[in-house]
Amino acid sequence: MPKAEYSLPRHVAIIMDGNGRWAKQHRLAIALGHRKGVETLREIVRYSSDAGIEVLSLYAFSTENWKRSQTEVAALMTLILEFFRTEIDELDEKEVSIRILGNIDALPAAQHQAVNAAQMRTADNKGLQLNIALNYGSRDEILQATIALAHQVASGHIRPDEISSEMFENELYTKGQPDVDLLIRTSGELRLSNFLLYQNAYAEMMFPQPLWPDFTVDLYKSALKSFQQRERRYGGRTT
Ligand code: FPP
Repeated sequence: MPKAEYSLPRHVAIIMDGNGRWAKQHRLAIALGHRKGVETLREIVRYSSDAGIEVLSLYAFSTENWKRSQTEVAALMTLILEFFRTEIDELDEKEVSIRILGNIDALPAAQHQAVNAAQMRTADNKGLQLNIALNYGSRDEILQATIALAHQVASGHIRPDEISSEMFENELYTKGQPDVDLLIRTSGELRLSNFLLYQNAYAEMMFPQPLWPDFTVDLYKSALKSFQQRERRYGGRTT
């Protein structure tokens, strides 16, 4: 596929919202809404990789999602396992590098093992950096970064006034990656829901109405194009 002619955001983050409502609309079990959501996910990852996006961050499971019913959590865990087992060959072939954002120690053993294996296998790939947020919460990420720097100060390794934004960013899961340029949340909800709060500081945001299972590559392409029309000032003035 030819690379897009317009210049792309370097980092796209997506809150894949609306699987539950989609299932309800179709009178299906919630697990089938999530399953349809994985189909959308697969298409969007494929397009992002082919188009030459540098980083794609997907919010798959938040630290708050454990509060959902046991059946729904189990369905999501099954889909996560299936995804890593069935997609890994194609992703690796496309040079996609997988990074998990979040504390994976709390995942069931099989999921833990599968995501670790996927990260290790694709670590040196030079294509799309695919961040999958699993058991992720941004406030906790920021808190953990602060604690890590506090330890460095307490041990005399650095002085408090030496702490730079670069040092702070190096303690985040997104270490070495550019800030989010474009944040998309489907289903019309207007919230960040504890997703990449630091990294989204200057992101352009879009809230398309379709539910995630109804989101298409064409809608994604439109979002990428309209990103081009946005004037980004980073707090400055252009006129
Ligand atoms: C939000 O929809 C979606 C989620 C909480 C989970 C998203 C997960 C997937 C698309 C699949 C699993 C991920 C991988 C990596 C295979 P919702 O259920 O909150 O929708 P609602 O607001 O309509 O109820």
